[in-house]
Amino acid sequence: MKAVIIRKHGGPNVLSYEQVPDPVVQKGHVLVRVRYCAVNHLDIWVRNGIPGKTVSFPHILGCDISGTLEEGFGNFKKGEKVIVYPAIESNNSRVSFGIIGGFGKYKGGYAELIQVPKKNIIKKPDWFSDQEAASINVSYLTSWNMLEKSKCKKGDTILIWGANSGVGSSAILLAKAKGLKVITVASDNNKAAFAKKLGADFVINRNTKDVESEVLRFTNQMGVDVVIDHVGAKTWPVSLEVLKVKGRMIACGTTTGGEATVNIRSFYSKEAQIIGAYLGSKSQLVALHKFMKLKKIKPVIDSTFDLKDAKIAHQKMEKSNQSGKILLQASN
Ligand SMILES: NC(=O)c1ccc[n+]([C@@H]2O[C@H](COP(=O)([O-])OP(=O)(O)OC[C@H]3O[C@@H](n4cnc5c(N)ncnc54)[C@H](OP(=O)(O)O)[C@@H]3O)[C@@H](O)[C@H]2O)c1
Repeated sequence: MKAVIIRKHGGPNVLSYEQVPDPVVQKGHVLVRVRYCAVNHLDIWVRNGIPGKTVSFPHILGCDISGTLEEGFGNFKKGEKVIVYPAIESNNSRVSFGIIGGFGKYKGGYAELIQVPKKNIIKKPDWFSDQEAASINVSYLTSWNMLEKSKCKKGDTILIWGANSGVGSSAILLAKAKGLKVITVASDNNKAAFAKKLGADFVINRNTKDVESEVLRFTNQMGVDVVIDHVGAKTWPVSLEVLKVKGRMIACGTTTGGEATVNIRSFYSKEAQIIGAYLGSKSQLVALHKFMKLKKIKPVIDSTFDLKDAKIAHQKMEKSNQSGKILLQASN
């Protein structure tokens, strides 16, 4: 099969499009012909490498997959269109789970074929095209999980960072569909216009305005009920500062770094909470499909590249030059 493999950690140049042996299917697994695989920021973490985390080289990235079954099993037929739930068992007792194509041994979906545990297979929901079906299993699922963990209710105000990102754009769409008032942050006018199109009520350009004072101005100095923070070190101090009394910050990412200095006194004196979110469960993914169909929500796709152009797709994401999901097409 053709696949994009990495033999070492590094920049986009370590992504190599090659002919490699087809996967040998292990017990309890099934072979999927990958049609689309979305690019997620996780792919960049794994490509770059993180101290203390290992992969077995040559490795294949990619965890957000739609495709067809190469063989039938149970109620699934050969050739059936499916998506892959990305979580697998963790080899670390204090991490909820591992992720296909992430750190660890499981090869991912930047390939024409992938073997995955049968229990991770879900029928492709009819509501989504093949491309859309490869866009929802990571960013959309994590945003859904974060909104559920936040215990937000209709009418609440939420701050969502990074409107153009996979997590940010999905959180805006889902939060609006849940009846929340959405404040979001963008870094230029085009991204701000995109955020407005998604339905955000108030967009702050972080390069021309101070986010903290703008959020407080918009909320009459009360602050927000919930913050969705996937940006990490640079945004945690503001995220905690703009929470109202008993507000909740849900954190899932460290794009700008994993260590922040925050105002602890301000945090506890308003009895705020910080909650971590990691992907979401398979049943949450199924519930998300139903919710998106009910609310007629389609994932927003920025662009689709051929698998062989994975390097260009990574460069685009690293420049944050996208509005929505970036996809790789692995087969026709
Ligand atoms: N825990 C989980 O299960 C889980 C699941 C999915 C994603 N994640 C994590 O969540 C993060 C986002 O993932 P993604 O795939 O959506 O990434 P992405 O599409 O690459 O988005 C990155 C975002 O970060 C924003 N950003 C960068 N620097 C910033 C700064 N200084 N201040 C404010 N915003 C800044 C960018 O906004 P601008 O373009 O405006 O700069 C962009 O919107 C990643 O760290 C990823 O690993 C975690």
